[in-house]
Amino acid sequence: MAARKLLLLPGDGIGPEAMAEVRHIISWMNDHEAAGFETDEGLVGGAAYDAHGQSISDADMEKAMAADAVLFGAVGGPDWDSVAYEVRPEAGLLRLRKDMELFANLRPAICYPALADSSSLKPEVIEGLDILIVRELTGGVYFGEPKEIIDLGNGQKRGIDTQVYDTYEIERISAVAFDLARTRNNKVCSMEKHNVMKSGVFWKEVVTDTHKNGYEDVELSHMLADAGGMQLVRWPKQFDVIVTDNLFGDMLSDVAAMLTGSLGMLPSASLGAPDAVSGKRKALYEPVHGSAPDIAGTGAANPIAMIASFAMCMRYSFEMIDEAARLEAAIAKVLDDGLRTGDIMSDGMKQVGTTEMGKAVLDAYKSMTS
Ligand code: IPM
Ligand code: MG
Repeated sequence: MAARKLLLLPGDGIGPEAMAEVRHIISWMNDHEAAGFETDEGLVGGAAYDAHGQSISDADMEKAMAADAVLFGAVGGPDWDSVAYEVRPEAGLLRLRKDMELFANLRPAICYPALADSSSLKPEVIEGLDILIVRELTGGVYFGEPKEIIDLGNGQKRGIDTQVYDTYEIERISAVAFDLARTRNNKVCSMEKHNVMKSGVFWKEVVTDTHKNGYEDVELSHMLADAGGMQLVRWPKQFDVIVTDNLFGDMLSDVAAMLTGSLGMLPSASLGAPDAVSGKRKALYEPVHGSAPDIAGTGAANPIAMIASFAMCMRYSFEMIDEAARLEAAIAKVLDDGLRTGDIMSDGMKQVGTTEMGKAVLDAYKSMTS
């Protein structure tokens, strides 16, 4: 079997602590299951800035391009609040997404049964929740040009970002959403703001056309993104797959994440187009939570989103479906057993730190391995 090449980019804040737990799992799988993961490491975000004044170096970008998959921790923190905009920690992540052409961001929001009580919503609203947000990740207002602050010369300035989408960008993200819906409950809801935005009118049109072109077996609905946010907190179980643009997807996926009790629980996958020759997609896997500088270094971080991101990596990049399912089951078991990090702690449960949680998940995984 060819080696499975992984680039680990732990980044800043709690990123390295969470990544350490994944590293333990990888080495156990290599030793006991001949998983054949070959890992390399790089710097991103503030860590990269401190080392070489850039939020990711060209050398690490090259490693990312050559890897089968990238595992990404988190970037940012108050230490880098005053660095130049072009080299701020987030720029490293945006460059990875853009240069690797990771246009499809998959953000599942799953409510683990054991955590139904830690959501701010009533348990019956979120019990059994399993939705998938498909966010367009390389276009829209985060990347559109012009993007600048200009001086109007009359004592006023003007801040400009540009929301822009071409046909192919909307076609390919809708196709990903329809394909994924077929493996789930076969429903896609597309969200935009066609009532006020031309790009929203266009988005809706192209999603509708793509649907007519070979995806009519999938149930498609449309919703205005603001109403979508409202419906997500009212009755999230009405959704299966939600497809939306970069900006709305950023916001709606945070909302969806919090429905499940904690941002610390949720993984994500960012995928490119399949390679014409090998059929392999470039891919980056990252927890939805950020660098959490307030708890970084205290050993309190929840490593579950990072571990679940590795499970997604096994599923989408390496077709290790059994191993991925087993690792997810291990997470559910540890939660059922009552272990909690601080962010998901509730009465009567046992509070543990990052390393204990990581070890418990690995132990559960081992116990499920025949
Ligand atoms: C996310 C984050 C990023 C984004 C930041 C860190 C650039 O919020 O992945 O959702 O806005 O896309
Ligand atoms: Mg975000």
